[in-house]
Amino acid sequence: MDLELAGDAALVTASSSGLGKASAKALAREGSNVVLNGRDEGRLEDARTEIESVASGRVVTHAGDLTDPDDISELVSVTVEEFGGLDHLVTSAGGPPSGPFLETTDEDWYAAYDLLVMSVVRLIRAAADELRAGDGGSVVHITSHSVKEAIDSLVLSNSVRMSVIGLEKTLSRELAPEVRFNSVLPGPIETERTRELLEQAIERGEFDSYEEGLAAKGSTNPVERIGRPMELGNTVAFLCSPASAFTNGITVPIDGGLGRSNI
Ligand SMILES: NC(=O)c1ccc[n+]([C@@H]2O[C@H](COP(=O)([O-])OP(=O)(O)OC[C@H]3O[C@@H](n4cnc5c(N)ncnc54)[C@H](OP(=O)(O)O)[C@@H]3O)[C@@H](O)[C@H]2O)c1
Repeated sequence: MDLELAGDAALVTASSSGLGKASAKALAREGSNVVLNGRDEGRLEDARTEIESVASGRVVTHAGDLTDPDDISELVSVTVEEFGGLDHLVTSAGGPPSGPFLETTDEDWYAAYDLLVMSVVRLIRAAADELRAGDGGSVVHITSHSVKEAIDSLVLSNSVRMSVIGLEKTLSRELAPEVRFNSVLPGPIETERTRELLEQAIERGEFDSYEEGLAAKGSTNPVERIGRPMELGNTVAFLCSPASAFTNGITVPIDGGLGRSNI
């Protein structure tokens, strides 16, 4: 299926690794021009090399911290300067730390809100005019299945990410019909974030090794494994594309069927 993304302009945040990188790769493979973002220049260059191997459009990197409002404005400006506009915004970010509620400080709460919510607010504010100006703007948020079912030891993710869903649903009406807003809710997918969380779980004594933790996560999933990043990236590209033009204001779990909610 041709997703009709060739020549479009996309900005994917937190895309030097993991789910952001897979989303950027899927968009680039479909012919979209893509700006990659992350804080570390070296990781960005590695991601660019990987993505260019499948891309037919241009792949540009721009380092910036999503907790810095100036970096966010610059990221949007650079995308518009490079590609002459902005059609698709995919928001991802690093994940908040895990741990028990009673050990979570005010600073932890504010840092998680800044990274996961205010980055999205500021990105959309900066990009709104450009997204509305084209003929089919789209925004896709990469959040977590924690918005549907709370995950043990992830109080910040369980609580703070709900704001992004409220924002998505509000804007899917307020900025329609020019811009569509949707979210994907990853279940366990093998990325550096998964390694980081499993290492924290090993420190808490929940597993003896990374391999044991990975096997445990896979064994509770109906498809008997955890996910691969491109299995989410492909859905993100579809949600950005005109092929999903009547899909607006929804949340799509990408979790192998792990979630037990009926809807
Ligand atoms: N993988 C999963 O199983 C899973 C499941 C549910 C939810 N999620 C959520 O999905 C999101 C993406 O996770 P992932 O698996 O793709 O993680 P990842 O592989 O660790 O990638 C995280 C990306 O975010 C960038 N980043 C982190 N902090 C940043 C900041 N302040 N400014 C700019 N870029 C920043 C990192 O680059 P630099 O460090 O170089 O900046 C990297 O490119 C996270 O919020 C995670 O919690 C993941």
